[in-house]
Amino acid sequence: MTTTRNRVAVLHGVNFDILDRRDPEVYGGLSLSELEQRIAGWAHGLGLEPIFFQTNHEGEFVEYLHRLPDLADSAIVNAGAWSHYSRAIADALDVARLPTVEVHLSDVESRDEWRRVSVFDGLVLAKICGKGPDGYREALDLLAGELGADGA
Ligand code: DQA
Repeated sequence: MTTTRNRVAVLHGVNFDILDRRDPEVYGGLSLSELEQRIAGWAHGLGLEPIFFQTNHEGEFVEYLHRLPDLADSAIVNAGAWSHYSRAIADALDVARLPTVEVHLSDVESRDEWRRVSVFDGLVLAKICGKGPDGYREALDLLAGELGADGA
């Protein structure tokens, strides 16, 4: 019997619930549910089953990561500002031990100095930034290849 490993958890952190109120020049003006709908469409096209999570509370994000191995086979993480300083979230992701891609809508490498730091360095397969929503499509492609869900 073969078990399908095709579940991808898409985690958004602090301030993503108000994505459509953030600077459209930087974040594109989409709402979180519009972004999630796009991600779901791409995921299904690749044979992946997405589940979505967002919170503004760091402890809730950590607790979701604790449950992650029971919920998903892989993850896409955009932890917002936490990406740059939350060692607690990085430690929890390390314990989850799932293939994970870090995504940022904006180009964190060419903005403020502090946004260049990522606590996920060394824990993720790739860090994709500055590509807007398409960055998630790229992350899904990577994970589909990793999980063998794209028939590769
Ligand atoms: C972000 C980049 C972070 O620096 C910022 O704090 C965010 C969004 C992005 O998707 O571009 O909240 O993660």
